[in-house]
Amino acid sequence: MSPSSTTVSRIITKEELCLLQKVPASCGLIIFGASGDLTHRKLLPSLFSLAQENLLPKQFYILGVARSPMSDAAFQARALESLGSAGTPAARQEFARHCGYLSGDYQDPSTYEALNQRLTGLDRVYETAGRRIFYLSTPPTLYGAIAHALGRAGLNHSRSASAQATADTRLRDARRDLPAAASGEGGWVRVVVEKPFGSNLRTAEQLNQALHQVFREQQIYRIDHYLGKETVQNILMFRFANAIYEPVWNRKYIDHIQITAAEAAGVEHRAGYYEEAGALRDMFQNHLFQLLSLVAMEPPSSFSAEAVRDEKAKALASLSFPKDCDWEDCAVRGQYEAGAVAEEVVPGYRQEPGVSPASRTETYAALKIEIDNWRWQGVPFYLRSGKRLTARTTDIRVVFKHVPTSIFRPLLADQISPNVLHFRIQPNEGIALQFEAKHPGPKLCMSSVTMHFDYEDAFGIHPPEAYARLFHDVMVDDQTLFARQDWLAHSWRFLDPILERWAEAKERGLAFYPAGSWGPTEADELIQKDGRQWLTD
Ligand code: BG6
Repeated sequence: MSPSSTTVSRIITKEELCLLQKVPASCGLIIFGASGDLTHRKLLPSLFSLAQENLLPKQFYILGVARSPMSDAAFQARALESLGSAGTPAARQEFARHCGYLSGDYQDPSTYEALNQRLTGLDRVYETAGRRIFYLSTPPTLYGAIAHALGRAGLNHSRSASAQATADTRLRDARRDLPAAASGEGGWVRVVVEKPFGSNLRTAEQLNQALHQVFREQQIYRIDHYLGKETVQNILMFRFANAIYEPVWNRKYIDHIQITAAEAAGVEHRAGYYEEAGALRDMFQNHLFQLLSLVAMEPPSSFSAEAVRDEKAKALASLSFPKDCDWEDCAVRGQYEAGAVAEEVVPGYRQEPGVSPASRTETYAALKIEIDNWRWQGVPFYLRSGKRLTARTTDIRVVFKHVPTSIFRPLLADQISPNVLHFRIQPNEGIALQFEAKHPGPKLCMSSVTMHFDYEDAFGIHPPEAYARLFHDVMVDDQTLFARQDWLAHSWRFLDPILERWAEAKERGLAFYPAGSWGPTEADELIQKDGRQWLTD
């Protein structure tokens, strides 16, 4: 008898677990910044896809809040536009009927009075028992002020008498390592905060303080849409639901790891934000470091939010620059110049609308870093991300060591290609393992071949929209896929000195690259001087 069979009354099968998607209890979603692009492009379509899968409560409302004046009808028309041709016209109409809009200044207390009144009415109509999710998707400088205003208006907690019952249920579930109960629960209030979460450690801490004055940590969901991607979550399954990788997942067998997030798109219409952010804040502090933590973390004691996030935070706490280089040799920044992407001629970053002609903002960055612990000591992690590169691709490549010696003389050990495990995060989602095989021909003929797992072939569907998973998790109170404050602090603590030095260096060290290339030559040199190279398809 296995130990687990003595502790549970009935063993749940893997298939049953797949069907165990909870339909959340009725609730309302209030989106601050609802007139913006994110709501239109991502949030509303994701919510609709949840509705299509019957994973949205039947009693659910969306209230958009923003400065632009707009009627409910106009917001509903926008919502319909956002959904395009997804689902049936009747389903789209039904979804849009649950959407409303409130315009007002985020800093004006009267906005929150109006909001309070409106929510009281909506809660009654939709029988939500005061279960509300506030989604902050405004310019980040407003997050603190909005949180403060929500607190002042008493909107930071549920007035439902059964709130304590919910807390008790949650405690019981946490002890049993179960997600909190989703139905029959009392009122609650949760707040979702979009990135960027601060622009350095100081501002991130200020924002945390501002949120904590009003909300408890358990109410705060810091969203990173990369964590909602199925292929990103699959890193955990791959590592911890298979026995064969753990023994080789360390400095003894792994030579180095590459993480690439390349975009073909330029800054688009987001110059106002991007000029202040740059690639390090926009992509590394969140998405790339999330990928890094998932690849590098120790096995958590369980799949609970705290156990997973403890290990991710520990991995980031051990970030350092390798001993053979200081930050200057191991951090490259670049900016795109005019060029051609997919045969389309595109302007340079400094010529983009809204960008200063003397801008020093990096649109590309590459780092060589280490995780200074027993598992990873001496294993370089090469990270790169940029806009206007050759193609849109995000992947992780785990490059194993060469065979220790070659029996295939005259071929030497380092002439035999090492194994490469390739997590294709997007597009062509999947995982591939490269290994050496006998090639037809003479005795010593050998070449690299690849074993593929292709997400779409295996499951017959496109990976779902990342925000859908994350919305569902907020509704069922699962914080596993959300950033915790200590993780964020570690990420900023590592990046702050680089950002400061880049700011001091002004244009010195800013490398330019033509749009449509793989980035500046300096980034190639960063890895080539170690006798390695960036791997691309
Ligand atoms: C966002 C960044 O967080 O992620 C954008 O702000 C970037 O600059 C985007 O384009 C990339 O997301 P995805 O899912 O397209 O890889």
